[in-house]
Amino acid sequence: MFEHIKRVPGDPILGLIDAFNKDTNPNKVDLGVGVYRDDHGTTPIMRAVKEAEALLVKNETTKAYIGSHGDPRFGKAVLPMVLGDDSPVLAANRASGTQAPGGTGALRLAADFIRVHLPGKGIWLSDPTWPNHLGLFEGAGLKVGKYPYVDAENRLDFPAMMDAIRQIPAGNVVLLHACCHNPSGFDLSAEQWQTVLDVVRERDLLPLVDFAYQGFGDGLEEDAYGARLLAEQLDEVLITSSCSKNFGIYRERTGCLIAVAKDTEQMENVRSQLAITARENYSNPPAHGGAIVAEILESAELAAMWRAELTEMRDRINGLRRDFVEALQPFGLAEKFACIAEQRGMFSYTGLSPEQVETLRSEFGIYMVKSGRANVAGLSRDNLAYVAKAFAAVSS
Ligand code: LMR
Repeated sequence: MFEHIKRVPGDPILGLIDAFNKDTNPNKVDLGVGVYRDDHGTTPIMRAVKEAEALLVKNETTKAYIGSHGDPRFGKAVLPMVLGDDSPVLAANRASGTQAPGGTGALRLAADFIRVHLPGKGIWLSDPTWPNHLGLFEGAGLKVGKYPYVDAENRLDFPAMMDAIRQIPAGNVVLLHACCHNPSGFDLSAEQWQTVLDVVRERDLLPLVDFAYQGFGDGLEEDAYGARLLAEQLDEVLITSSCSKNFGIYRERTGCLIAVAKDTEQMENVRSQLAITARENYSNPPAHGGAIVAEILESAELAAMWRAELTEMRDRINGLRRDFVEALQPFGLAEKFACIAEQRGMFSYTGLSPEQVETLRSEFGIYMVKSGRANVAGLSRDNLAYVAKAFAAVSS
């Protein structure tokens, strides 16, 4: 029965973890998978998370099921984080939060919801986008289209993006990255978000906003600008929020699908359906990560500690962006790679070709995604000069 099954290469991002671990090059540098790293190359557990976990161990009284929408404390804490403390959407009670196994789980919930409740509708993704978007939406049975995002000069191509979005047939879904676009790092300005809103409204499209890096661009509030604008101005929006990066709880699989509807009645209808979708997928989400997030956001002291740690991570990445461009200066490459300092979030689309990426890996032990995406957090004071030299070698 299994004779016809062929072996496939590993995931283009997660497969790098294994390859990196096996590499014996003492100078190896991991700029692959999107996890935050400190200056020692480790992914530390945030202090606020450790303290919240200690409280959970002490106070937790049961391991019984938490229900298909997850921990109500989690939903109550995450909705204002994403939509804003004074959100008119929350005041009007037209947003529902469903805890999901990570941002990926939330995306899959959204995909299943679209397939069942908007039959025949497709989803349009930016080109490039997070590679898993494609498999995830196609795997859920949705037709997938693309809109351009980055031009041949490795710059955001907003006019081409909007031209393509204007062609999407009414009633279909457009996926937008809220901030820290993965893989390019190019984000939309407030003015550009306004244009997106106008076109989405005019074309009667449903926006699905992938919000995986809140706090990694310019700040928790600043990064939410586009998601909040759409949620406040449109009747219907789906938002997938991930706590993997901003709480550093990647393996706890903690995310949320936020469904914004026209009014409370429609929101409750959608919410009831999402419970069924979750039930049929995995029944209940894992509890631990959501409990950590709720514990932190409910405590003024832990929330302040967490915000400070998040700011430190963001500042470190943005500092590395500037330092790396400076380290390329002696090679005459500062201008060519100037966009790295302008991009936001963990990633930079470097413009390096798959062949150049392969040479970086085979000759220098530097691991990046084949598309030329580098995780800037993998740079450090110790490896900056080495990576700059290697970039120069493959660029000559
Ligand atoms: C990434 O893009 O590297 C992260 O989102 C991790 C993943 O699941 O791919």
